[in-house]
Amino acid sequence: MTNTSFTATIRERVQQIETMPAIPAVFLPLLKLLSNSAEEVRVDEVVRLVSYDGAIAAQCLRMASSPLFGLAQPPKSIKGAVISLGLRRVETILLTCCLGQAFPATKWVLDPVVFWRHSLGCAMVCRKFSEKLTAADAEKAYMAGLLHDIGIMVNCMAFPKEFTRAMEHASTDEMPLGEAEQATMGFTHCETGRALAEKWKLADDISEVIAHHHAIERSEKAQPLVALVHLSDLLCRMRGLGYGYYERHKADLISDPAWAILLQQHHDLQGVDLVRFTFELDEAVEEIYGLVSTVFGGSSGVSLSRQ
Ligand SMILES: [Fe+2]
Ligand SMILES: [Fe+2]
Repeated sequence: MTNTSFTATIRERVQQIETMPAIPAVFLPLLKLLSNSAEEVRVDEVVRLVSYDGAIAAQCLRMASSPLFGLAQPPKSIKGAVISLGLRRVETILLTCCLGQAFPATKWVLDPVVFWRHSLGCAMVCRKFSEKLTAADAEKAYMAGLLHDIGIMVNCMAFPKEFTRAMEHASTDEMPLGEAEQATMGFTHCETGRALAEKWKLADDISEVIAHHHAIERSEKAQPLVALVHLSDLLCRMRGLGYGYYERHKADLISDPAWAILLQQHHDLQGVDLVRFTFELDEAVEEIYGLVSTVFGGSSGVSLSRQ
């Protein structure tokens, strides 16, 4: 297949995703809202959007009450959650809940619970990481982490046979998923994710993360954010929040080129105690398991073999 016809095939198959009925009505308006700056977004508008769907509102409140968000008193209303947690944080919680309903469970090749643990884990790590860096936007980082592998959902739905072979290859050879996709399908979740990001008109920096988180050198517009997500993704895969199979890692965060790129932009990264940070992450893993079962279903227990 030539490169152009292959891109056309991806776009064509991604187009079909829109016709699926499972996308919550609030999801696309929410994405549009998230692309505005925090000052432009009105609290009432977010509260109205959340209240539109009772199931999402309830999930959103349960998630906001999680210890991961550190509130002394769980919020009783969406408005209360906005006031206590801040608008941006409530938006990202809402986005998580919407994504949980956006894709029909029957279409999955990869166990959705495993996928969401990885995505939510990565979102949390991205936020924790950027909270340690003074100039970083923590909620933007959360959103980027949550959406970075959205191409995997596209592959499950639009290329199920091809993606099944890629998953089998990855788990048999214990290799990174992207490499197995490239070897068996000729493209990866980065390309299909990018097509969905274009279709959903996601912000440029989020699209860059989706397209280049496995090849950060290709990012032109948002390299520090792409590098942050790349490292967080790696960290999750190293700490038991991967794609449901054992992956051999040669990786070491500090010698990864993404670390140097991030360091150029954020000099305070030098002061981050990585050992302590990974320890904090291990503590958060159990909480992430609980959160995923709240939002996306599945068992809340932490199994011994997390991979
Ligand atoms: Fe990925
Ligand atoms: Fe990932």
